[in-house]
Amino acid sequence: MSIRIAPSILSADLGRLADEVREAEAAGADWIHVDAMDGQFVPNITVGPVVLQAVRRATALPLDVHLMVVDPDRHLEAFAEAGADILSIQLEATRHPQRTLARIRALGKRAGLVVNPHTPEEAVRYLLPDIDVLLVMTVNPGFSGQRFLPQVLPKIRVLREWLDREGIPVELEVDGGIHPGTAREVVAAGATVLVAGTAVFGQRDRRQAIAALRAAAAVR
Ligand code: DX5
Ligand code: ZN
Repeated sequence: MSIRIAPSILSADLGRLADEVREAEAAGADWIHVDAMDGQFVPNITVGPVVLQAVRRATALPLDVHLMVVDPDRHLEAFAEAGADILSIQLEATRHPQRTLARIRALGKRAGLVVNPHTPEEAVRYLLPDIDVLLVMTVNPGFSGQRFLPQVLPKIRVLREWLDREGIPVELEVDGGIHPGTAREVVAAGATVLVAGTAVFGQRDRRQAIAALRAAAAVR
């Protein structure tokens, strides 16, 4: 199974954003991951649709937009128009997630659902038909450079089993503390998309950084 690498611009030099994105593309990135934070759902505040537009202009790669905002419905159109390909909402920040996921698809985008480390797999079971990408957080959202939480691995294994058993075509993505060592573990557990901030943009040689993640992921 082919593994996708999604560098997160949160760890890039934002003063050179377009060049950083182009460099990640040239270095072999599959998706570009963009973290939008509102200072409410998470402590940090990052970027919104205007910055997403700048990323859109810099690359043709799929833009994987991770909304860490309360009540994401208010912002879906703006992020869709700014160039998102995948719009992912946090389950814990959304009152009626099925409705919101359906709205994302109605906007012509791939619908992503994100679950925090403490959220059990059962919470997503009846949402699976409405999801294109299921993102399992392997840190508490809010910052790059945090340590991977190994207690999330059993949840990834269970979700992989469900998806395979029921033949559901959902990408299983992980985000937080991914480096070659943890990449091996999450891919062995069943992840197919790896978000990496520090492990790509925090490294001087991005080509080598992406190659190292891919090599570590070659366990599956
Ligand atoms: C954290 C963000 C991540 C972050 C990952 O809340 O969702 O996408 O950029 O950074 P690393 O890979 O450094 O943990
Ligand atoms: Zn993210």
